[in-house]
Amino acid sequence: MIAVYPGSFDPLTLGHLDIIKRACKICDKLYIAIGKNSSKASLFTDDEKLEMINEALSELELANKVEVEIFSGLLAEYAKQKEAKAIIRGLRVVSDFDYEFQIALSNRMLNSSCETIFLLPSSKYIFLSSTIVRDIAKNNGDISSLVPKNIEAHLKAKFQTK
Ligand code: COA
Repeated sequence: MIAVYPGSFDPLTLGHLDIIKRACKICDKLYIAIGKNSSKASLFTDDEKLEMINEALSELELANKVEVEIFSGLLAEYAKQKEAKAIIRGLRVVSDFDYEFQIALSNRMLNSSCETIFLLPSSKYIFLSSTIVRDIAKNNGDISSLVPKNIEAHLKAKFQTK
């Protein structure tokens, strides 16, 4: 079963990695798809995100199952191109649900051969978001329990040069 895990990944967190590991248990191939949410400004470029996610994944034994790509345009079209049967999304809290429900139904309208599967992250990551990680890093806070080591280093470097 081919699945797509889309997101803005600005940056990837341990919460995302948790979902990736869970998704790998139920699919044969997982595309981590870096996309654009038109209402968000990005700290990292798509190419930086691609490199950072690949680095973080190289520490894990998922290499044969997972591929990281950048996509543009509609997620539903990208999923079609990849012949994906599922779009994976993490559901953290009830407040995620309304938005995710709307997007999942829109994606199903656009690509009826693909279902959205919601996975729950470990409870220790339930509060986590990329915005929170960026804010803590920007203010020199400790993010070591929130992101992979390489992402911590990239965030430090990014804010030093800003
Ligand atoms: N751990 C940590 N954080 C998590 C998480 C987890 N398990 N699951 C979700 N999040 C956070 C993300 O970090 C992100 O935080 P942020 O808002 O601070 O950046 C937030 O939850 C959700 O964002 P994300 O998962 O990146 O998705 P998104 O809602 O920004 O959507 C795309 C990004 C690329 C998937 C989406 O915009 C898209 O599909 N774009 C293409 C155009 C399209 O098809 N649009 C839909 C038309 S119906």
